[in-house]
Amino acid sequence: MSPSATLTVDAKAKALQAAGEHVIGFGAGEPDFPTPDAIVEAAVAACRDPRNHRYTPTAGLPELREAVAAKTKRDSGYDVTAAQVLVTNGGKQAVANAFAVLCDPGDEVLVPAPYWTTYPESIALAGGTPVVVPADETTGFRVSVDQLEAAATPRTKALLFVSPSNPTGAVYPRDEVEAIGRWAVDRGIWVVTDEIYEHLVYGAAEQHSMPVVVPELADRCLVVNGVAKTYAMTGWRVGWMIGPADAVAAANNMQSHETSNVANVSQRAALAAVSGDLSAVAAMRQAFDRRRLAIHRMLNDIDGVTCLEPEGAFYAFPSVAGLLGRQLRGSRPQTSEELAELCIAEAKVAVVPGEAFGSPGYFRMSYALGDADLEEGVSRLATLFAEAS
Ligand SMILES: Cc1ncc(COP(=O)(O)O)c(C=O)c1O
Repeated sequence: MSPSATLTVDAKAKALQAAGEHVIGFGAGEPDFPTPDAIVEAAVAACRDPRNHRYTPTAGLPELREAVAAKTKRDSGYDVTAAQVLVTNGGKQAVANAFAVLCDPGDEVLVPAPYWTTYPESIALAGGTPVVVPADETTGFRVSVDQLEAAATPRTKALLFVSPSNPTGAVYPRDEVEAIGRWAVDRGIWVVTDEIYEHLVYGAAEQHSMPVVVPELADRCLVVNGVAKTYAMTGWRVGWMIGPADAVAAANNMQSHETSNVANVSQRAALAAVSGDLSAVAAMRQAFDRRRLAIHRMLNDIDGVTCLEPEGAFYAFPSVAGLLGRQLRGSRPQTSEELAELCIAEAKVAVVPGEAFGSPGYFRMSYALGDADLEEGVSRLATLFAEAS
């Protein structure tokens, strides 16, 4: 397996930082805000309660499973029971569980690209075969039913769907969610739908949950979600998978041999998060929206860079194709990967190259960093790229 490119970039940036360099990191996909106080306080109290010092059910604390079911109804309108919720170690384990329970050897899973780097690796680890369906800025980085149909074969078991998207920030409008969901129902394939950025949409964009828009899909749909992005809780490691009872039972069995229950203190923190209101995420969304517009404007002002306006999550996905093959500081980067290396070496700016997401020629830049750092980082890139000849 290849290492997670996003974590590798982040580690490189942190190592340079530790060596005294002022590195601006656009690499990490995590909010720069601390976890809200009320959630932290719930965890502090949980530490002191001996009930949380013991093993608990693999599938999650019953009250958290109930609260996730209630939160799902509140936020997306999807009506599920607590028994359909499996609490996992972050959304990442929910992704891994989903493909592990769905894939038999040789089964194909359609993965629209640019894709989050973990999906194809999880599919391969589960014995499946990722089948990449490419999209670019001409369609807003969204795939169509025609493209999916052209990529499907009798071995197609599932479609991976994510909106808002990491790494592009694309958000599918309701009619496209519906068309894709109906196509999956007609074809009899599963959909793994990742809703981890559900609350981070901007402007006129709206998130639509596929099994709500297409209720007939519910029997063949696994929803991935978690507290990481909505509540600035990346380090707490709590996510969940929602699905039909048989799929959840299979994932529960597997998880019981792999990791057992998620740390109880983290589950109690997640319980406080999902049972509370959404005021903290509203404040973060406002900051992300401001930075989104700033990074979009600043990137498009750079000769050789073009950037579509992201509508969700906290990533910009600019094309750097206009800079490739040009002379820059004594080298001639031919790929976005080589250009990204030059950015960290020469400008001390960390970005993740598009290669990591199956789409060379782009950078992924997280704008979940402070406003001043964002300006400084993009300005450094502008200064560096102005030398390209
Ligand atoms: C699209 C997407 N899904 C799932 C996750 C998993 O998040 P976590 O495991 O931190 O809950 C991430 C994290 O970057 C993500 O970007």
